[in-house]
Amino acid sequence: MWKKANWTEVACRIPALIEKVGGIFLITGKEGQSNIMTIGWAQTGRVWGRPMATVLVRPSRFTFEKLKEHPFFVIALPTEDMYSAIQLCGSVSGREGNKFQKAGLSTRHHQDFPVPSIEECVGALFCQVIQETKVDPATFPQHIIQEYYPQGDFHHIYFGEIIKAELKT
Ligand SMILES: Cc1cc2nc3c(=O)[nH]c(=O)nc-3n(C[C@H](O)[C@H](O)[C@H](O)COP(=O)(O)O)c2cc1C
Repeated sequence: MWKKANWTEVACRIPALIEKVGGIFLITGKEGQSNIMTIGWAQTGRVWGRPMATVLVRPSRFTFEKLKEHPFFVIALPTEDMYSAIQLCGSVSGREGNKFQKAGLSTRHHQDFPVPSIEECVGALFCQVIQETKVDPATFPQHIIQEYYPQGDFHHIYFGEIIKAELKT
């Protein structure tokens, strides 16, 4: 059963989960048009006096288009046995079809938030983008650019204010 939670109860699980499972889920797009992608880079904390989740998305992702048209996202915490879904959502693009179906995951609708979460997951953070910046190669160490951006495709960094949090009990 899902219940409302303090954002820190969900956020504190993220680093260990990413270390163990490899990634977590990022859901974007309005109900009925939503997409799911795996992310490995995410931070949480209080910024500008607000609980915030920060995610990094490359412009080549379908997720990037979704965020451009609709500045909301959900971070969903997988169970530790969702390895194959993590791999699928991190290697196939939503441009090629519905990844919820492909990964065997179901959407969970919310009256008070425009992006669905994932029924089979164990935690969720519901976020509204309040700031978007991008990695600036002019001020970035060359060796990191060579390692992570050989083709450009510099990440955009989205600061999402955490509007609510949920945990499965
Ligand atoms: C473990 C893992 C972590 C990933 N982390 C990120 C990330 O933080 N940011 C990103 O832009 N892509 C990341 N990716 C790649 C995307 O998940 C992948 O390109 C995905 O197919 C994009 O889906 P989309 O086109 O439907 O948005 C990751 C992939 C994996 C497997």
